[in-house]
Amino acid sequence: MKHTGTKRLETERLILRPFCLEDKESCLRNWAANPEIYRYISQNAKTPQDVFQWLSTAGQAYASPETYYWAIVEKMTGEVMGEIFVDDFSGRNGWCELDWKIGPAFWGRGFAPEAAKAVIRYLMGEVGFHRIQAKCCVENTASERVMQKIGMTQEGIFREYFHSKDNRWCDVVLYSLLDREELDFQR
Ligand SMILES: CC(C)(COP(=O)(O)OP(=O)(O)OC[C@H]1O[C@@H](n2cnc3c(N)ncnc32)[C@H](O)[C@@H]1OP(=O)(O)O)[C@@H](O)C(=O)NCCC(=O)NCCS
Repeated sequence: MKHTGTKRLETERLILRPFCLEDKESCLRNWAANPEIYRYISQNAKTPQDVFQWLSTAGQAYASPETYYWAIVEKMTGEVMGEIFVDDFSGRNGWCELDWKIGPAFWGRGFAPEAAKAVIRYLMGEVGFHRIQAKCCVENTASERVMQKIGMTQEGIFREYFHSKDNRWCDVVLYSLLDREELDFQR
């Protein structure tokens, strides 16, 4: 495996690229500040100040070839509609975990699967990951559908793994894709 960082990727409708400071307004307008996005995840909606701080330090993170963190940009409008990134990885064991967010105005048009497929092709084909996984709260059916649409297989349920914002213990479902399956799915 050879780490090569957040390389610019392109799909039919999307550009996946590193974030930059100029993305601030677009991120705030489309997703980063919207509490609906954070319903099933531990983080909270970002304030304009949070976004500025995060984008200001993003450059340092991109200096590392082990950072895989893309802005999802709609080609047609140039809007930053969301993000997709490697949340965790084990170089020794050749696996990584993906996470994604898309702004509500862009939901239901298959953008998350389109971005995820491009990122998986890159992470398996160029970086050399053997296994890519993703997990979500079982109530987050939209995210689980993305895992299914990109050809991942359900492996199991982590019981009461996530503590929700309304103070409940929620089960979490784990999916994965192996590199040989990715080759099948590309054909
Ligand atoms: C999960 C997410 C990235 C999906 O993005 P997307 O680009 O809308 O993905 P798709 O277009 O493939 O739609 C996936 C599913 O979302 C659901 N969905 C579609 N439009 C929707 C809408 N307007 N409102 C709510 N859910 C919707 C559907 O279940 C759809 O599955 P289907 O195509 O079989 O009907 C997006 O919903 C999101 O950002 N959610 C909040 C952040 C989050 O929870 N991230 C995952 C953390 S584990």
